[in-house]
Amino acid sequence: MKILVTGGTGYIGSHTVVELQKQNFEVVIVDNLSNSQAEVVDSIEKITGIRPHFEEFDLVNRELTEAFFKKHNDIKGVIHFAAFKAVGESVEKPLMYYRNNLVSLMNILESMISNGIPNLVFSSSCTVYGQPDELPVSEKAPIKKAESPYGNTKQISEEILTDTIHSSSVNAIALRYFNPIGAHDSALIGELPLGVPNNLVPFITQTAIGLRKQLSVFGEDYNTPDGTAIRDYIHVVDLAKAHVVAVKRMIENKMKNSFEVFNLGTGNGYSVLDVIKSFERVSGLPLNYKIVGRRPGDVEQVWADPAWSNEELGWKAERSLDEMNASAWKWEQVYRGKNSSK
Ligand code: NAD
Ligand code: WQD
Repeated sequence: MKILVTGGTGYIGSHTVVELQKQNFEVVIVDNLSNSQAEVVDSIEKITGIRPHFEEFDLVNRELTEAFFKKHNDIKGVIHFAAFKAVGESVEKPLMYYRNNLVSLMNILESMISNGIPNLVFSSSCTVYGQPDELPVSEKAPIKKAESPYGNTKQISEEILTDTIHSSSVNAIALRYFNPIGAHDSALIGELPLGVPNNLVPFITQTAIGLRKQLSVFGEDYNTPDGTAIRDYIHVVDLAKAHVVAVKRMIENKMKNSFEVFNLGTGNGYSVLDVIKSFERVSGLPLNYKIVGRRPGDVEQVWADPAWSNEELGWKAERSLDEMNASAWKWEQVYRGKNSSK
């Protein structure tokens, strides 16, 4: 059974391709390599022994997208990861984010409709909840006004999906990820941020390996037990597995509504200092960090209520924070060892 994975050479996409292949799906990747490298296809092949079909083009291009779907009209489902994801950059370049994230989604939906492909799994984000009024946050919580153009693209995308499923035969599942971290056990694929990382764990591993001098911890005056902000970190392999479950749910006609939304988190909240302590424990290295002021736009604390996804999808995140940090650290070391000039 053929599944299209857009953004399949990216961080979460590549891990999902591996899990799909392990479950005997045939995978076709589309990626324009704007934030990933073609060698990821080789790494996937090394892990699974199967080379996914790969086509490089920009999903913002309507003609190329339609031509691709016409050629591959035996696709049974689409997992749409391809998007820009840097919150800060989206504030600087909002139109670039709206165009890339929204036009690619609309192109895909139009081609799915014209080629009779009904099933779409969409990458959404916990960012749609902002600072929730109640914790843990469930799928029923209200959507808060987006803090950034990036966050707004996820909210608008969910609205586009809601409207589209009402007027077409397309079904969609939006998966709201909390904070994905870690890497594949093989250390052949992982997160590859371009330039200075914005996210906590890549910054930690790059500091530990000597690429960055010091980690800045953004704020210690939050209303949390140790004063630092709290998030729900989830291992990328656990996250990837949920996509396989979602695809099967659609193909096996087990959806209860033609648009469904699920939280993908562990249900555990950890502070920035918890993450640092876990990293120090698994790496055996002291981390050079200092406390600085809050980062504008950060929410104080958020973690998932995963009860609905646990119950309905029969999926549960299994890996601990230590396992997440250990795999991220192994990936950083193997990657830098192999690419000492990068
Ligand atoms: P990533 O940047 O590693 O992967 C995205 C991939 O999409 C990249 O390989 C990029 O080259 C490709 N791409 C982007 N625009 C494209 C286009 N127009 N045409 C073709 N390819 C294109 O990001 P990721 O962390 O793997 O995120 C995947 C998805 O999950 C994104 O939609 C992101 O917004 C969402 N998400 C990520 C996180 C996170 O913390 N990583 C959290 C919540 C949601
Ligand atoms: C985690 C915690 C920081 C870096 C972002 C997006 C969100 C989603 C996931 C896509 C926060 C602190 C960080 C550093 C620090 N992505 N931190 N020093 O901001 O929770 O979520 O990625 O949808 O939309 O906003 O993740 O990893 O940047 O930060 O102290 O150098 O670590 O303040 O408390 P965030 P993050």
